[in-house]
Amino acid sequence: MAVGRTAAPAHPARPGRPVLRPAREMPKRRAFGSPAGRIALLHALAHIELNAIDLAWDIVARFSGEDLPRSFFDDWVGVAAEEAAHFALLADRLGDFGMRYGDLPAHDGLWEAAAATADDLLARLAVVPLVLEARGLDVTPEMVARLDRVGDMPSAEILRRIYRDEIGHVAVGLRWFDRLCRMRGLVPEEVFHERVRRCFKGDLKPPFNHKARAAAGFPARYYEPLAR
Ligand SMILES: [Fe+2]
Ligand SMILES: [Fe+2]
Repeated sequence: MAVGRTAAPAHPARPGRPVLRPAREMPKRRAFGSPAGRIALLHALAHIELNAIDLAWDIVARFSGEDLPRSFFDDWVGVAAEEAAHFALLADRLGDFGMRYGDLPAHDGLWEAAAATADDLLARLAVVPLVLEARGLDVTPEMVARLDRVGDMPSAEILRRIYRDEIGHVAVGLRWFDRLCRMRGLVPEEVFHERVRRCFKGDLKPPFNHKARAAAGFPARYYEPLAR
């Protein structure tokens, strides 16, 4: 397929359910020992992955008019395909509990990062793969360990798969962020600090998963200075 040109919609099309509510009204997912706690976790993660599909395609569509190599678009199509696989795995696992995506409310804050970075590709790459997806690498091992402890091996295995793939998504984000900065004669980590401070609400939360971030090629000098 040729890379066409299009205007990305402000919001992606969404199913009638889940009902979107403020983040503070989300069902608690503290107690993984109960099915309800794990259902809440799987549902929240499915919702994140649905947003991730949209975010990957939004980069392709929104920045189609910029002078970018073909491989840029191929990389994000690859990310979108993996996000779709993640969504499908989580939605299937919800089915094992007799639930479907949409049966619980979800929060509506996830598209804010897209809106805040809609007209600046460097800001989008800084905030979406390099802040939000990198944050996923920080928090996922603990969730996997808790699922292992309560004996939910199928859910733990899905999260391990997602974790491995997400290292690749951070790597894709960093590769293009660095490359675009250098093409414009900019110093990548300086641009990263400036864009995150301007476009992302709040500080980055330690502790960081340095091992996974390093596996993605993401050096601490980018994110450490932005830590709380
Ligand atoms: Fe994902
Ligand atoms: Fe991802």
